[in-house]
Amino acid sequence: MIETFKPEDIINIRKDFPIFNNFDKLNGKKLIYLDSAATSQKPSVVIDALHSFYSKSNANVHRGIYTLSEEATIKYEEAHKKVAGFINAKSFREIVFVRNTTEAINLVAYSWGRKNIGKGDVIILSQMEHHSNIVPWQLLAREKGAVIKYTEIDDKGKLRIDKLENHLKEKVKLVAITQMSNVLGTINPVKEITSMAHKAGATVLIDGAQGVPHEPTDVQDIGCDFYAFSGHKMLGPTGIGVLYGKKELLNDMPPFLGGGDMIKSVSFEEARWNDLPWKFEAGTPAIAEGIALGSAIDYLKSLGMAKVKNYEKELAIYAMDKLRDVDSIEIYGPPAGERGGIISFNLKDVHPHDVASVLSSENIAIRAGHHCAQPLHDRLGVTASSRASFYIYNTIDEIDALVNGLKKARKIYG
Ligand SMILES: Cc1ncc(COP(=O)(O)O)c(C=O)c1O
Repeated sequence: MIETFKPEDIINIRKDFPIFNNFDKLNGKKLIYLDSAATSQKPSVVIDALHSFYSKSNANVHRGIYTLSEEATIKYEEAHKKVAGFINAKSFREIVFVRNTTEAINLVAYSWGRKNIGKGDVIILSQMEHHSNIVPWQLLAREKGAVIKYTEIDDKGKLRIDKLENHLKEKVKLVAITQMSNVLGTINPVKEITSMAHKAGATVLIDGAQGVPHEPTDVQDIGCDFYAFSGHKMLGPTGIGVLYGKKELLNDMPPFLGGGDMIKSVSFEEARWNDLPWKFEAGTPAIAEGIALGSAIDYLKSLGMAKVKNYEKELAIYAMDKLRDVDSIEIYGPPAGERGGIISFNLKDVHPHDVASVLSSENIAIRAGHHCAQPLHDRLGVTASSRASFYIYNTIDEIDALVNGLKKARKIYG
């Protein structure tokens, strides 16, 4: 039997999210939040963890020899351990807290990239990457004279593994690929890609911004060298994200930022680096946010990530079917059943901003624009799209409301 949530489970889950009680009324209409790929809503346990830290435990970490600071340090380190357990890293030393996915990828590009990438080396990305998994590599390639190759997608929005195989015959140093496209909903076979890339001698970074919030994640099973994700897309606060890196690689990399906390000792002449992961966490970190990310993980674990994955898939299947009732809609990405809970589309001759405004008048929140994936939109032959994305608190009724809202937009714009 497939593990999933029952309607009564979702009623209870929604009660855990204060926003659904507090932002309930726009012209008397309930909030329908379909933009979790941009950022998720937060459950009370996460909001309470922030409040509780500042009201009961606030002190800097790794500094004070007094009880409050020692307690804050223990909680902050425990949060690293929770993250390590959640993605099955070998040790919390492989878990670096950063601000978000973007910073995690920039850290790798700056530190690992500058040391390991040289003139003529090839970096493989894909046509479906978010700007944060493109621009850091463009900066690095420009500085080092490296070459970027984009693995093509097919017309269904799936990665062309045969094309990747061809690119891997070149002088490849790095493969950096998203686990799930934030536009197409395509789920990439990251384990297979990692194994192919390793055989070709390349290092592998997985952009897990849309991965770890939505499915069980095991970095050892995937086998990747780096894995990046953001707390705010998985029920956690903004300002906290994670870079997982294999210990040998992190040990071998120079620091990204210099300052307090990332050193063992400093003299007028030089400095010695701290142990992992602190070597990469310069300055006062996002302590409360890190601890609250730990609470988000506890919450997701209590729900069960297999259920999260299956439920979102069910919502996507239902939505793909219902959206076909809307006149002249073009949906991008793989067929229902082969994608996660993200659906991007266009209504013929209606700008996505107009679609989003009509939906907003119904208190339905979707994203409209290029979703930080302009090259992918070029590949699709459009400048922008509308995007609905689902999470654990969304319901079938909300998808029906989306479809009705789109029919209304169709009527208004002819
Ligand atoms: C696939 C993917 N990668 C990276 C990012 C960047 O995440 P952040 O803005 O939290 O750094 C996003 C955000 O939408 C994303 O969807």
